[in-house]
Amino acid sequence: MTEKSEVDMKAGNDLNRRDFFLKMGLGSLGIAAAGTTVFAYQFLSPNVLYEPSPIINAGKPDSYPLDSVTLDVNSGIFLVHSKEGFFALSAVCTHLGCLTSWKPELGIIACPCHGSKFNREGQKIEGPAPKPLPWYRTWLSDDGDLMVDRSTTVREMEFLRV
Ligand code: FES
Repeated sequence: MTEKSEVDMKAGNDLNRRDFFLKMGLGSLGIAAAGTTVFAYQFLSPNVLYEPSPIINAGKPDSYPLDSVTLDVNSGIFLVHSKEGFFALSAVCTHLGCLTSWKPELGIIACPCHGSKFNREGQKIEGPAPKPLPWYRTWLSDDGDLMVDRSTTVREMEFLRV
């Protein structure tokens, strides 16, 4: 190999090495810029927790037979149709928050966790629950649907007459 070709090869290697480091540097800058952009977006976007609406559309009143207690597991409420009218109760036990269930054979609402029992109006019959099941505000929408607001409690015995 001649001295000139060795010099040419060395120059070629230097050029490749230079290109390699240039590309590595640009790649690193690109990754750092992308990371900074993601971090800045997360930092600047509002840290908001989106919760489902407390208002529930429970459908038409005639879908609840007279003297029925219907549990809506998804929203955690009982919809009760008594002869006095409609009302909505929280189905969440006031002891430690377990979901209660209606026992039609006994005519009571029972908590499976520690044995609290409530009557159909949510009054405690027995067990460790410290308070009755709260009543929620109910009303009829313009379309005639039963609406329940889980964020607003009302006094007991406030029936919605339809
Ligand atoms: S959570 Fe219902 S009795 Fe304890």
